[in-house]
Amino acid sequence: MFLWASRSILAWWALSVILILILVLGLCIRLWQRSCPWDLQLCSTNLAGKTAVVTGANSGIGKFVSQELACRGARVILVCRNREQGEQVLAEIQAASGNNHLLLGLADLSSLASIRSFVRWLLQEVSEIHLLINNAGVCGIPEKTLTPEGLDVTFATNYVGPFLLTNLLRGALERAGSARVVNVSSYRQNYGYIDEEHLTGAGGPLAFNQNYDCSKLLLTTFTGELARRLQGTGVTVNSLNPGVIYTSIMRNLSWQYRFPFWLLSFFLKAPKHGAVPILYLSLAQELDGISGKYFNSSCIVTLPAKPAQDPRVAQRLWDATVRLTNLDKMD
Ligand SMILES: NC(=O)c1ccc[n+]([C@@H]2O[C@H](COP(=O)([O-])OP(=O)(O)OC[C@H]3O[C@@H](n4cnc5c(N)ncnc54)[C@H](OP(=O)(O)O)[C@@H]3O)[C@@H](O)[C@H]2O)c1
Ligand SMILES: *[C@@H]1O[C@H](CO)[C@@H](O)[C@H](O)[C@H]1NC(C)=O
Ligand SMILES: *[C@@H]1O[C@H](CO)[C@@H](O)[C@H](O)[C@H]1NC(C)=O
Ligand SMILES: *[C@@H]1O[C@H](CO)[C@@H](O)[C@H](O)[C@H]1NC(C)=O
Repeated sequence: MFLWASRSILAWWALSVILILILVLGLCIRLWQRSCPWDLQLCSTNLAGKTAVVTGANSGIGKFVSQELACRGARVILVCRNREQGEQVLAEIQAASGNNHLLLGLADLSSLASIRSFVRWLLQEVSEIHLLINNAGVCGIPEKTLTPEGLDVTFATNYVGPFLLTNLLRGALERAGSARVVNVSSYRQNYGYIDEEHLTGAGGPLAFNQNYDCSKLLLTTFTGELARRLQGTGVTVNSLNPGVIYTSIMRNLSWQYRFPFWLLSFFLKAPKHGAVPILYLSLAQELDGISGKYFNSSCIVTLPAKPAQDPRVAQRLWDATVRLTNLDKMD
């Protein structure tokens, strides 16, 4: 009896200590995650008559961003890979914003063929694009998981897909006269390195989930390169880290990783907070003409990881990705 009581007291102690630790950790995260000082409510940018394309619009940060753009009158193309989910979100955003110029576009960003057929459809629907938000992304897919086209799923979704999409839409962006491209990267890029062979599931060794880190580094590396190539066209390109946000992004990780994320969810920012830096890059008038920059989750221009600062590295990566996507041979 005594033994049982002392054991249960011990268990209570252990539980309380764990709960207190989580609380302290959570409060630290809250303090560390300073917010973007830019106030969305005070921004008067109206998007009536403008066209915006948002990838990964059915979930998390992308859904909130799409809704805000719709509320500001934009014709938003919600790019999703699942028709039912896309239709449901489109109806939700339509009801919330009263905007009935929304369109659902279907594309699997890990498939080059799917992106090409999506673009063929899109360019029949719209001739100018004012805003392209490369938001879709995956995390937690085992390394060297290949797509039917022979690309690594993580690199294809987070980097090669947005590369191809952005390049195929370049004409429509330039026709808009003044347009912005926003790439949703991650602070995790600091833990990545560049090896073009990764794109096809080969290349240097990767630690657990480092394929995500590397893919986000590649995405950021293009900021400089695309900005250089678009100079004088009226199209600006920037990338950002939304912060640590509680969304479905961890869905493909095992429960050992999802459980702490879930426990801490109360202290993490919500999708609407993660959307603010993206909306800042999309809407703020003070950013007219600003291009090739990387912004942290407080909306402040920050240097990206070292490799992303080297134009020679960016040029080599660009050439490798052009070959991989056959961008030089078609269209
Ligand atoms: N949450 C964070 O803490 C955090 C931190 C840094 C950066 N980010 C970045 O923020 C972006 C948005 O993520 P989130 O947090 O909002 O996560 P999320 O809720 O999981 O949203 C990811 C979106 O990407 C879409 N997607 C994934 N693979 C796709 C594919 N092959 N084709 C088309 N769409 C695809 C998903 O569609 P399905 O629903 O069909 O899968 C979903 O709409 C990502 O780029 C992520 O890397 C997030
Ligand atoms: C966005 O990413 C695409 C694909 O990686 C790239 O082509 C483009 O240059 C990037 N733009 C920025 C601003 O990072
Ligand atoms: C990620 O998880 C989702 C939901 O659990 C699943 O539908 C999807 O197929 C997974 N993606 C990959 C590439 O394994
Ligand atoms: C963003 O960068 C600024 C300037 O370097 C820094 O003061 C701020 O703490 C950074 N924010 C985050 C969330 O890292």
